Amino acid sequence: MLEVKELSAAYGKAIALKSVSLKVNRGEIVSLIGANGAGKTTTLRVITGIIRPLRGEVIFKGKSLVGMEPYQIASIGIIHVPEGRGLFPNMTVRENLEMGAFLRKDKDGIERDLDFVFSLFPVLKEREKQLAGTLSGGEQQMLAIGKGLMGDPTLMLLDEPSLGLAPMLVDKIFDTITQINKEKGTTILIAEQNAYMALSISHRAYVIENGSTVMEGSGEELLGNEHVRKAYLGM
Ligand SMILES: Nc1ncnc2c1ncn2[C@@H]1O[C@H](COP(=O)(O)OP(=O)(O)OP(=O)(O)O)[C@@H](O)[C@H]1O
Ligand SMILES: [Mg+2]
Repeated sequence: MLEVKELSAAYGKAIALKSVSLKVNRGEIVSLIGANGAGKTTTLRVITGIIRPLRGEVIFKGKSLVGMEPYQIASIGIIHVPEGRGLFPNMTVRENLEMGAFLRKDKDGIERDLDFVFSLFPVLKEREKQLAGTLSGGEQQMLAIGKGLMGDPTLMLLDEPSLGLAPMLVDKIFDTITQINKEKGTTILIAEQNAYMALSISHRAYVIENGSTVMEGSGEELLGNEHVRKAYLGM
């Protein structure tokens, strides 16, 4: 479904990506794991059209995305749940969810997805009228994922979904990601520093180091890999 080939990218003169290559097949959960500053967020930003690459290709369903605008990329079904969550703090929970669906015209589908989001995260239903900026960190993360789902993604890109959450909530978020993948069939690419959780729920994963993808395998393979265990799992 998605193929990223030998991507390089920079912020001004600072090279952030040297050579990133990865594939995401339909129906998969794939993670990109790596340390602070390795290039995970930058990779997602190139895929979603926020940053233009210096070199390389991003192919989605056989079509190149390089040069397309972010809204065009969103409208073909690639929905980004950014690091820092991308919510509208002065809008209510309900309004944020509605904003997530603003490119859609299928009213029935929007209603169905709203029910699905409320069934995944009942706390969002309870707090429907609360301003997003006043939610707790965990609730904001749930809202960010819910808002992403309201865009009816074919491919959902999640940047650091576990950031700043207590361990119990981290489990809940990763369980929910699995549930979304199973129940809606959404294909998911996760950028995560929490390598253990990400690998545990992923069909396949890539390791990114200093702007280059250096390793690939099934979640299980990488969980058992010596280098991954030492560098990312603290074992
Ligand atoms: N807006 C920016 N301007 C300049 N440099 C940037 C910018 N954003 C990221 N960088 C640099 O690009 C490199 C890759 O950063 P990126 O945010 O992609 O890392 P990351 O893997 O997502 O890290 P983290 O786990 O800390 O979120 C880093 O060296 C970072 O300092
Ligand atoms: Mg990041």
